[in-house]
Amino acid sequence: MRRIRMWKRAAIWLFCFSLLWHNTEAQIRYTIPEELNEGSVVGNVAKDIGLDISDIANRKLRIASDSSTQYFSVDTRTGELVVNGRIDREALCGQSGSCLMPLQIVIENPLQLHRVDIEIQDINDNAPHFPTKETILKIAENVALGARFPLESAEDLDVGKNSLSSYALSNNAVFRLNVKTLEDGKKVPELIVDKPLDREKQSMYKIILTALDGGDLVKSGTSLIQVFVQDINDNEPKFEQSQYKASVLESAQFGSNILSVKATDLDEGLNGEIRYYFGARTPDSVRKSFNINDETGEITVIGKLDYEVTKLYSFDVCAKDKGSPEQEGHSSVRLHIIDENDNVPEIILTSLPSPVSENATVGTVVALINVKDLDSGDNGKVHLNLSARLPFKLKPAFDNHYSLITDSVLDRETIAEYNIELVATDSGVPSLKTTKTINVKVLDINDNPPFFSQSSIIVYIKENSPPGASLFSVSASDIDQDKNAFLSYSILDLSSNHMPASSYFYINSENGTIYSMSSFDYEKVKRFSVAVQAKDRGSPSLSSNVTVHVFILDQNDNVPSIIYPSAVTGSVAHQRMPRSAKAGHLVTKVTAVDADSGHNAWIFYRLAEATDASLFNVNLHTGEVRTKRSVSEQDDSSQRLLIEIKDNGEPIQSTTVTVDILIEDGFHEPISDYRKIRPEADKKTGKITLYLIISLASVSLLCLMTFFILLVKCARGSSGSSSCCIKRSNYAYSNPNRNLQIQLNSDGPIKYVEVLGGDMMSQSQSFGSYLSPMSEFSDFTLVKPSSTTNFTDTLNVLDASLPDSAWTFESQQMHYPKGTRFM
Ligand SMILES: *[C@@H]1O[C@H](CO)[C@@H](O)[C@H](O)[C@H]1NC(C)=O
Ligand SMILES: *[C@@H]1O[C@H](CO)[C@@H](O)[C@H](O)[C@H]1NC(C)=O
Ligand SMILES: *[C@@H]1O[C@H](CO)[C@@H](O)[C@H](O)[C@H]1NC(C)=O
Ligand SMILES: *[C@@H]1O[C@H](CO)[C@@H](O)[C@H](O)[C@H]1NC(C)=O
Repeated sequence: MRRIRMWKRAAIWLFCFSLLWHNTEAQIRYTIPEELNEGSVVGNVAKDIGLDISDIANRKLRIASDSSTQYFSVDTRTGELVVNGRIDREALCGQSGSCLMPLQIVIENPLQLHRVDIEIQDINDNAPHFPTKETILKIAENVALGARFPLESAEDLDVGKNSLSSYALSNNAVFRLNVKTLEDGKKVPELIVDKPLDREKQSMYKIILTALDGGDLVKSGTSLIQVFVQDINDNEPKFEQSQYKASVLESAQFGSNILSVKATDLDEGLNGEIRYYFGARTPDSVRKSFNINDETGEITVIGKLDYEVTKLYSFDVCAKDKGSPEQEGHSSVRLHIIDENDNVPEIILTSLPSPVSENATVGTVVALINVKDLDSGDNGKVHLNLSARLPFKLKPAFDNHYSLITDSVLDRETIAEYNIELVATDSGVPSLKTTKTINVKVLDINDNPPFFSQSSIIVYIKENSPPGASLFSVSASDIDQDKNAFLSYSILDLSSNHMPASSYFYINSENGTIYSMSSFDYEKVKRFSVAVQAKDRGSPSLSSNVTVHVFILDQNDNVPSIIYPSAVTGSVAHQRMPRSAKAGHLVTKVTAVDADSGHNAWIFYRLAEATDASLFNVNLHTGEVRTKRSVSEQDDSSQRLLIEIKDNGEPIQSTTVTVDILIEDGFHEPISDYRKIRPEADKKTGKITLYLIISLASVSLLCLMTFFILLVKCARGSSGSSSCCIKRSNYAYSNPNRNLQIQLNSDGPIKYVEVLGGDMMSQSQSFGSYLSPMSEFSDFTLVKPSSTTNFTDTLNVLDASLPDSAWTFESQQMHYPKGTRFM
């Protein structure tokens, strides 16, 4: 078949050849297609030269050696020019349009040179061909639509219509082909981006570019074009959540992981490499407390969290890729801090505790207190309480405010200040507590009077002591405080006292030392009752009293004074007695008084001298002068006795009296001797007691009668009368009831005088002559109407010896107000 086709083609060429032959006679020209088989006949060159076949051998027809001998040869038998080797037009002529091979044909004898041109015609023996089988094209994904990318042209060695004629692109959605024909007719294919690219959808395209020639049997060549879509940072990182939420305990430690944020970036490479950051406007507080790991997006605690400071952290996070320009994505994070009971309650004194007065009513507000707990919920619920039982309580006011009020009556003297411990406990688990001690002072109120430890004080002072002597210090105490306990002492002048004690005593108002302001005479005043008051300086002030009994101690400063028989000092008393008197006859009785008291007033009588010492005897205690024996005729009728009267003081004070006794023959005693009743027989005590009772009764009766008579006499007011009641009126000294009574007989001469009564206050210290225990007739007096001595003398003596008295005759007849010396 092939062979037939070849021949057919050869025939065509021959026909053309002949035509050419005819046209160009001067030159021989053959036209053959390329790639004829070896031995194919190009033409009969001998014939065309005009040479006979027989001459061929003779004339040595041949091809000049410098010609293209390797392609052709001459058949010397037939004179035909045959193809000797493979003729590739493309090798011989390249791309030029005609391809002529000149041959020099040489014949000898004669030597002739003929030129033969052989035109080699192209056949489509070459397929288009791309120099590079695979082309890699990188196109940015953001390339503009219509962008052109020149591709490599294909080559086809053939010429004419066998050469490259068109390109085709394999089917694809994005690119199209454009073929540009250059001025030299070269066709250049271009890839045009027809649709947008998106690396994230398809990052690589494989396209086959086919080049086609125009031969009858079209030949083609292909090239693979790989289009890599270059990433453009056209995707921002995207967080998986638009907002992240997490909770973290406020006690979270350094480095604790809270959460991880995560973003993704569709881009690749650096454009997809994400770094995490805090948002641009993240406050410092967040940056100090948290860290975000830029690679992992892990958020950790790096600072101290405190629910009480910040309950919620809200910030932005940002993810950036490393593209250029970089893209970033955002999300927000809300971190809730979970409260823990990490704050102890706080006790705040809204007002400082004010001192409370001890008389404050129950419910008085002492302090205002506020409790606080920074925690929230139960952790922040605070209960306030007192730690111990005290007379205070807490009164809740509005939320978390309390007032501390008194709960019962206070007494500063019991407890002067309170340390009140407040305990605040929160309700967290475990609960926390705080204590605070507040000191509340109790203010003093002058509610306690000064207090003397003794209710009365007895002080003694000797009479005649010089003024200014310190007597005693009174001291009171006051359990109050400061000026409520600051005491001053004073002497009160009681209105019931006629003599103001303040004129006699002085008290140091600060320390209570009492001084005398004068010298005292026991015989005038025996006792003072000094009311001393201690007064504090409170307002109102309180006071209390104590009575200081000042007793004047007696000193033996008075000489016994004779009341009877000798009224006038120095005079001699006269007494009469019958000569018939038996032994034991009472001649007279010497009566003396001593203004002193007690021992100082005990009076002893002693017969100092006598005309006849054997006749008389003086009773030591009573002063009775009695006969020792019966008076005889030989006895002198005039007897003189010197009687010494001494007291018992230290030193002894004494005086004497002289009594003249006239013994008369015809003198009779009107009243029988009572000496018989003297209790000399102690053995018959019972009988004597009976006698005594009888005597007492009769004597009392006698006394009453005498009194009655005296009273009647006094009342009658008979002038010149010598018997009356004399009462010493009291001029309101401190010894009230000194009441003296002197009894005398009114009819006839006074035989003796008795002094009755005495100091009701101190019986033992009263006039002692008769009331002394040694007195044989102590309590009663016998009054004998014997003497005519004037009564006034006696009074004078009394006055002189008892100077502190003022005597008043109750009869008014002899008003005798004596001395108001102390008034
Ligand atoms: C407490 O004492 C003061 C002074 O003695 C007095 O003024 C005040 O009224 C008293 N208060 C009460 C509640 O008794
Ligand atoms: C408050 O304290 C008192 C005395 O300390 C106690 O008896 C009482 O139970 C306490 N109250 C509370 C609610 O704790
Ligand atoms: C009282 O004060 C006076 C004068 O300052 C002093 O002489 C006297 O000793 C004091 N008495 C007492 C008991 O302190
Ligand atoms: C103290 O004595 C004065 C004067 O007699 C009197 O007014 C006052 O009440 C007395 N004080 C006391 C506490 O007895």
